[in-house]
Amino acid sequence: MPAQTLAARPGHWLWTCRAGFEPHLYEELEWAGANPRLLGEALVESEDVPSPPPAFARAGYRVVTSLTGRTPEETAEEAARAVMALPGRGPRVVQAFTPDTPRGNTLTAPAEALEAAVRARLPSERLLDDAQRAREAGALLVGLCVAPDGVTVVGAVPAREALSLAAGGRRRMKRAGESPSRAAMKLEEALDGLAFEPGRGDVCVDLGAAPGGWTQRLVARGARVIAVDPAKLMPELAANRRVQHVQESAFSYAPEEPVDWLFCDMAWRPLEVAQLLAKWGRKGWVRHLVANIKLPMKDKNPVLLRVRHTLREEGGWEGLTVRQLYHDRDEVTVTAHRMK
Ligand SMILES: C[S@@+](CC[C@H](N)C(=O)[O-])C[C@H]1O[C@@H](n2cnc3c(N)ncnc32)[C@H](O)[C@@H]1O
Repeated sequence: MPAQTLAARPGHWLWTCRAGFEPHLYEELEWAGANPRLLGEALVESEDVPSPPPAFARAGYRVVTSLTGRTPEETAEEAARAVMALPGRGPRVVQAFTPDTPRGNTLTAPAEALEAAVRARLPSERLLDDAQRAREAGALLVGLCVAPDGVTVVGAVPAREALSLAAGGRRRMKRAGESPSRAAMKLEEALDGLAFEPGRGDVCVDLGAAPGGWTQRLVARGARVIAVDPAKLMPELAANRRVQHVQESAFSYAPEEPVDWLFCDMAWRPLEVAQLLAKWGRKGWVRHLVANIKLPMKDKNPVLLRVRHTLREEGGWEGLTVRQLYHDRDEVTVTAHRMK
């Protein structure tokens, strides 16, 4: 880790990640030939943008400029000028953020002040306030990364190509009052990025369902859920007529007929889970997949490569995304689909 935060280079990519995951993100970028550089805690730069995008990145921006050693007024002035000079006529979403670290979090107030100051300098008709509408509006996401050691990075990415619509990928979600676990927030965040969502009339299988956070969210969306887990579900779910609890191992379970969605949050070895998910794909038991893969081991990238390979080559899963979401800890969330 550099002793002081380094300025990102214009034209390169700025990636944010969960604190402590910089080495994993760096390694991923290096393996993809993207020439990474560690900038500071929770911040990595790369020369190129790899395809597929790195799993351990929360958000990525093409760097426009890095500002160091400026007063807040000078930073706002120069950042606004840089944003004005960006090509394209579409609306802009301007979002400031700090690295998600204890040092970064002390900069929340200056970051909020910078965002307000930059927005105040831009023509209001070019600004879009609602980031959730950014993709459909063809907007450009402008990220103002306020980092320790007086470094501010201005970056931009078209919303349609962005890994996350949240500033710096820091997607905070309110914990729903009735929700039984943090897991429910992981599910909502995963569903947020999908073109299709489970809803009324859909049949979902939830592998590793207990105590029922995911099942509860799916039922709330109107779906019917087959919850597979040897452990107990919350009593209100066990009694719900749209929930069928199959109290056995996911490895021995097979659906009676094909279902719409497969969810999996099983606390189990990632390569064995990947093989199970590949079996579901190969057998044509399901169309859509959302799975949380646990990665407690030190060397995460070699395991991730094998998980990707198993899902694609052995399972025939397409449109695979692998992302460490904001709510993911030592884990990543996988989404995919299969053509019938
Ligand atoms: C992280 S919890 C799941 C939380 C759940 N998604 C929720 O929202 O409440 C992991 C679950 O995996 C289950 N599990 C572990 N091995 C399993 C297996 N072979 N088959 C089914 N479930 C399994 C555990 O019993 C545990 O309930």
